[in-house]
Amino acid sequence: MIFETHAHYDDEQFDSDREALLASLSDCGIKSVVNVGASIASTRKSVELAGKYDFIYATVGVHPSEIDELNEERFAWLRELTKLEKVVAVGEIGLDYYWDKEPEVQERQRYWFKRQMQLAREAKLPIVVHSRDAAADTLQIMKEAHAEEIPGVIHCYSYSPEMAQEFIKMGYYIGVGGVVTFKKAKKLKETVEHIPLERILLETDCPYMAPEPYRGKRNDSRYIPYIIEKIAELKQVSIEEVEEITWENAMKFYQFVTKL
Ligand code: NI
Repeated sequence: MIFETHAHYDDEQFDSDREALLASLSDCGIKSVVNVGASIASTRKSVELAGKYDFIYATVGVHPSEIDELNEERFAWLRELTKLEKVVAVGEIGLDYYWDKEPEVQERQRYWFKRQMQLAREAKLPIVVHSRDAAADTLQIMKEAHAEEIPGVIHCYSYSPEMAQEFIKMGYYIGVGGVVTFKKAKKLKETVEHIPLERILLETDCPYMAPEPYRGKRNDSRYIPYIIEKIAELKQVSIEEVEEITWENAMKFYQFVTKL
């Protein structure tokens, strides 16, 4: 059984075949999917998908590159959504200094990152963190906010193995996706070798980040076995063990046992 912890099936790239594709996932071993909100519109669609399919759950939140959409009214709307039974996390939230270099924009990212972390704390939900080219600020903000009291995952992890240990010390999970299969992804491979399997969550970030041999194509959860295979190879354990442990990790992370 495979747990897809980070997908964007609301994306327009799935408009042509969404229903057929989602219906086929179970036969491919994909038993649970978390559809991640990244904007106001995608949060709304994630909640809709979770309402329509038993095996789909939703997260609600606004990605750092979309925070100009946020205001108090919309923030209050997010807060209402966190009360829904199938909403399992706040995310994806965080910092992205790769796309946004303006100091004022980065300041606004930090502001809404903190606010959305606070929302997760109130709602007793974990957070899904997006952090790119902003390792030091992400860690600092999380420490100041006592993130060790809020469970979370650093999704699409792209920093050093040492930094991963810092997040793990705070109780965080590391999200590993298709990038681990890329030839040049040395840092991520090293990170996977160094961290415990008990700290890894499997994710696609589909439609983006397709693993080899589908790199550059539209991604979906059916390609997760390529990620599992690579993790098993790096950690020198069986494919079954990676599948089993990461399933348990995701169950714990999304608090299914307590929320459902
Ligand atoms: Ni994502």
